[in-house]
Amino acid sequence: MPSAPPFRAPSGTHDVLPPESARWQALVGRFAALAGQAGYGLVVNPVFEDLGVFQRVGEGTDVVRKEMYAFEDRGGRPLALRPEGTASVVRAYVQHRPTTPWKVWYAAPSFRYERPQAGRYRQHHQLGVEVLGSVDADVDVEVVVLAAELFGALGVRRVTLALNSMGDDACRPGYVALLGAFLDERTDQLCAEHRQRAGEQPLRVLDCKRTECREATAGAPRMLDHLCTACDAHFRRVRDGLDALGIGYQLESRLVRGFDYYTRTTFEFAATALEGAQNAIGGGGRYDGLVEELGGPPTPGIGFGIGIERLLLACDAEGALRLPEATVDVWVVDAVGGAAARDLSWSLRRAGVAADRAFDERSLRAQMKLADRSGARLAVIVGADEQASGTVSLRQLRGNDGAQELVARDRVVARVRELLA
Ligand code: HAM
Repeated sequence: MPSAPPFRAPSGTHDVLPPESARWQALVGRFAALAGQAGYGLVVNPVFEDLGVFQRVGEGTDVVRKEMYAFEDRGGRPLALRPEGTASVVRAYVQHRPTTPWKVWYAAPSFRYERPQAGRYRQHHQLGVEVLGSVDADVDVEVVVLAAELFGALGVRRVTLALNSMGDDACRPGYVALLGAFLDERTDQLCAEHRQRAGEQPLRVLDCKRTECREATAGAPRMLDHLCTACDAHFRRVRDGLDALGIGYQLESRLVRGFDYYTRTTFEFAATALEGAQNAIGGGGRYDGLVEELGGPPTPGIGFGIGIERLLLACDAEGALRLPEATVDVWVVDAVGGAAARDLSWSLRRAGVAADRAFDERSLRAQMKLADRSGARLAVIVGADEQASGTVSLRQLRGNDGAQELVARDRVVARVRELLA
C-alpha cells in the first residue's frame, strides 16, 4: 500500500521555526518592554469565545459575516475562534470588572477565513493594547505613540499614519444620513458589491478600494467636517498631543476601519515598503460603546492591533531586526566521551552563560564545525590531554586570531565570564 502523503500545515497557516523564530521572540520582547514601561499588563484570553461575543461586535463586517471560524463544540455550544483581540479583552473586562483605567497588552493569534496570499493568512498574530475606562484624549495619544515607538525601536522607518475621527452617537447618525443621500444619487456608479449594500452601510463604501467607488465618492461629505463640538474638541486634543510628541500623520477622512465598534479616533499604520494591498501593519481606534454592547456598564475604550507577520515583512523590506548571529555564547567540545560536555555545559548554564554542545559522540572535527556554525564566541574543548591534566582549552572563535589558552577545570566558568565580559 502506498503511504499517505505527509500532512502539511493548513492553507493560510504557517510554522515559525528557529532561527527565524528568534526575530519573532525579539519583536514580542520589544513590544512587551515598551508596553510594560508605559504601565500596561499582559492579558491572556482564550482563543475561542461564545459566538455571540464576536457577532455582537461586528455583524455588519466581513470579518464576522464571511470569515469567522464558527463551530459547535461537542456539547452543542456555539463558539468561534477569535478573529481579533478587542472583543475578547472587552468580554474579560465585563466579566472581571478590574479597576480603571485598565491598561493591557497581548500577543495572540487571530483567525480569519481569508484568501491566503503574501501578508494575508488564516491564522495571523497580533500585538495589541486596549485601555478601558478613560475618555481622555491623552489616552488616544498614548496608544498611537506606543505603536509608533515600536516601529521606531525596530528600525522600521517607512511608516505612514492615517488618522480620522468617526464621531459619536451625537454626530455620526446625521453624517451617515448625509453620506447615504450622497451615495443614493450615485448608486449606479458604485462597484457591484456596494451597489447592493450602500444603503445598509454607507460608511463601508468610503473604505472600498475599487476604482468605481473611489471615483464616485471623491466629493463625498467628510466626517471630519461634521463632528459635533465634543468630538471636534477631542480630536483637536489628540492631534495636539501627536504634534507635541513629534508623531507625523495624515488626516484621512476615508479611514473607516473593518469593525462596527469604532467611535471618535481611528488610525492605521501602513508600511510603504510593502505591497499596497497588504501594507497595513497595524490599526485601531476608540470604541466607547463596546463595553455596553457586551453587557457591561458604560465604559469607554481604545486600542490597536499590529500584525506580527506583516511587521516582520516590513522589517525584511527595510533590513531591520536582523537575525542574531549567535544562538549561544559558548560551545562545549568533548572528544572524550560526552560526560565532560554534559557537566561543563550545565556548569556554564547554571552560571547564566548560554552554552550548547553536540551529542552522539561526533568527531572532534564535526564538533568544531558545529561550534563555528553556532556563532558562539568561545569553544571549551576537552580532549584526551585536557582530560588527563584536569584542564580545558578555551578557544576564541571570533577574532583574536583564534587565541587559545589552557584553564583548570574549576576555573572554567570564571574565565569564560571574564572573556565574554
Ligand atoms: P485589524 O485592522 O483587523 O484590527 O487588524 C490589525 C492588524 O492585524 C492589521 O493591521 C494587520 O497588520 C493584521 N492582520 C489583520 N488580518 C490579517 C491577516 N488575515 N493576515 C495577516 N495579518 C492580518 C483589529 O483586529 C482590531 N482588533 C484592532 C483594534 C484593537 N482596535 C481597537 N483595539
